[in-house]
Amino acid sequence: MSPKTTPGLVRPEGACALVTGASKGIGAASALALAADGWPVAVHYGRDAAGAAATVAAIEAAGGRAVAIAGDVADPGAADAILSAAEAQLGPVLALVNNAGITDDGLAMQLEDDAFDRVIATNLNGPFRLTRRALGPMVRARHGRIVNVASIVGLRANAGQANYAASKAGLVGLTRTVAAEVARRGVTVNAVAPGFIATAMTHEIPEGQLGAIPARRPGSPEEVAACVAFLASDAAAYVTGSVLTVDGGLSA
Ligand code: NAI
Repeated sequence: MSPKTTPGLVRPEGACALVTGASKGIGAASALALAADGWPVAVHYGRDAAGAAATVAAIEAAGGRAVAIAGDVADPGAADAILSAAEAQLGPVLALVNNAGITDDGLAMQLEDDAFDRVIATNLNGPFRLTRRALGPMVRARHGRIVNVASIVGLRANAGQANYAASKAGLVGLTRTVAAEVARRGVTVNAVAPGFIATAMTHEIPEGQLGAIPARRPGSPEEVAACVAFLASDAAAYVTGSVLTVDGGLSA
């Protein structure tokens, strides 16, 4: 098969990328990286409209195209509303970056149902519904890229984060299984698993924990975004069902 007829090899014209939780942090950096690769980008946000507007402005200042789209990913009705809004403004969503996520830490013995359920609803149920809604147009286009922002905490223990770890481990399982379901349609599904990244979520990283990272520093949102952009690119057409750790060697 030639590159033009092999499913998934070449990004079709007129498609866009959707990045959830792109008002700041890893999501904002990913939106910028995808825009730099030529994707028009739907910049999704939860409540931070000003942050999303800043991401859109930064993309436009660099010569790209972007729109901001609001929605609570934990809301079961949100997936269709978010994808439909992106499609209406920018065309079919052929790259989906499930980045929006929260923590609500506590030792398992003390975790309330609400803290467990909210983290699962945001970090796992949301990406599942967005993925389910996004797959139809991707399969029809015979091209799609789904990148889930998991965590090394989904791959190994981190005391005090049972809910978060369960959500991210679930996201890794979702990634691998959906990848197997749609690979022959030209749709790839991968995850990145960041370690300590300097964003609002991590606040200050204690000196003692920095010492455990072989690179001896936290990562930047841009360093995660570069991996997201690679997995969304034509160059990654044969990479699917994989989990790319971005952690300065922490889990090596
Ligand atoms: P952040 O807190 O800066 O950004 C998270 C984004 O998700 C925010 O824009 C927030 O508004 C959005 N969001 C949260 N709940 C939402 C909801 N229900 N509906 C819509 N939007 C919602 O955090 P950061 O660090 O940029 O995290 C991004 C992703 O990376 C998350 O999935 C996080 O779990 C993951 N991650 C972060 C690490 C770090 O060290 N910062 C390490 C490993 C994974």
